[in-house]
Amino acid sequence: MEQYKSLVIVGSQWGDEGKGKITDYFAQKASMVVRFSGGDNAGHIIVSEGVKHKVTIVPSGILNPKVVNVIANGAVVNLPRLVSELEILKKAGIDTKNLFLSNRAHVVLPYHIAIDELQEESRGVNKIGTTKRGIGPTYQDKVDRLGIRVCDLFDKNFKTKLKEIVEFKNKLITKVYDGKPLDFETIYKELMDNFEIIKGQVVETSTLIETAIKSKQYVLFEGAQGALLDIDHGTYPFVTSSNTSANNASLGSGINHNLITTSLGVVKAYCTRVGTGGFPTELNNKIGEGIRERGHEYGSNTGRPRRVGWLDIVALKYAIRTTGLDKIFITLLDVLSGEPVVKICTNYLLNGEKIFTIPPLNGDYQKCEPEFIEMQGWKEDITKVKNFSDLPTNAQNYLNKIKELCGINIVGFSVGPDRLQTILMESEF
Ligand code: IMP
Repeated sequence: MEQYKSLVIVGSQWGDEGKGKITDYFAQKASMVVRFSGGDNAGHIIVSEGVKHKVTIVPSGILNPKVVNVIANGAVVNLPRLVSELEILKKAGIDTKNLFLSNRAHVVLPYHIAIDELQEESRGVNKIGTTKRGIGPTYQDKVDRLGIRVCDLFDKNFKTKLKEIVEFKNKLITKVYDGKPLDFETIYKELMDNFEIIKGQVVETSTLIETAIKSKQYVLFEGAQGALLDIDHGTYPFVTSSNTSANNASLGSGINHNLITTSLGVVKAYCTRVGTGGFPTELNNKIGEGIRERGHEYGSNTGRPRRVGWLDIVALKYAIRTTGLDKIFITLLDVLSGEPVVKICTNYLLNGEKIFTIPPLNGDYQKCEPEFIEMQGWKEDITKVKNFSDLPTNAQNYLNKIKELCGINIVGFSVGPDRLQTILMESEF
């Protein structure tokens, strides 16, 4: 069989594991970075040479001028947001011509955003805590076969089609949700103005990706959100509306799954979650507050404080199995420095019984109590560490324990936001 080189990088918890940084790091050697799911609900911060860049829909390979960046068919795209993000990058001196958008990607429209907000309001205490970026309603329309794809915008009959959809959506907004109707001409103009700017970069991305891999280029697939927010395998209903799984990289980019060689899960050294939903290891105390402050655990997209908890091996092993991971990469290890004791959850207690997986019912998940192993922490500042052997023994023990409990290799770890604070333990990467 041909030896290709492609790597999927996904979050292995509830998102915000530092995927952007890790993708940017591996992108230094890659020829292409592909976003295959989600939309501008993601928030990826990449720091290069001390400068912080924030992207939501633009792939994290954008800082590297040699990398082709692809937004593939499985992603959903808010065109004004994409265009303004590219403008900001251009102003910072970054070349954005190397970005291509799939003609089959679905488009997020203002009515999706309005409906996302109205749906959340109507859910009351059961709200999901969405990012209100219209992601759920866009995927709803995709499945309902009512979606607008990028290719539709080239069609001469598009205006009529969109008008009919906006009329229908306005009925939904006003009659079901008691909201304000949206103005069709405003939506159409904003959409087409932005499309004019980006349309030269719209292509059949599936061919582009396949050709790159088959010509032995190194291609990265960048996930969005995390495995536990996957619509099929996540902590439903408190999930996003797409398949965030590594297994979805081939479907979300339209290539043979055999072309994908390795799946890497990014794992934060502890856990965080934004929005509602079960979180057995959550720390509602001073330890949690300390980790939140040291780890700057506030949504990069929405600014919301993230919920913080100890590392949860039950959830991680569930993610490794359902998302299809081969290896993991640990991020934000430095944030745990100073904790006298670090804890790892190894199983839950549900109705007095030990369980080792995530139960399917949210009500049961909310009742799960974590059982922990406790390990000695480390006091040293590890932000300048360059090798595993430079780490204090207790930090080494922590990583070794994670590896032992997960049963898959740790390929590296990071000790700060900069590219230079990323330590590789396996040379093949
Ligand atoms: P949506 O994706 O905006 O529909 O939100 C659904 C759930 O996914 C909410 O709990 C969000 O907080 C969460 N979510 C969406 N995107 C991200 C992300 O990039 N990081 C972490 N959580 C996210």
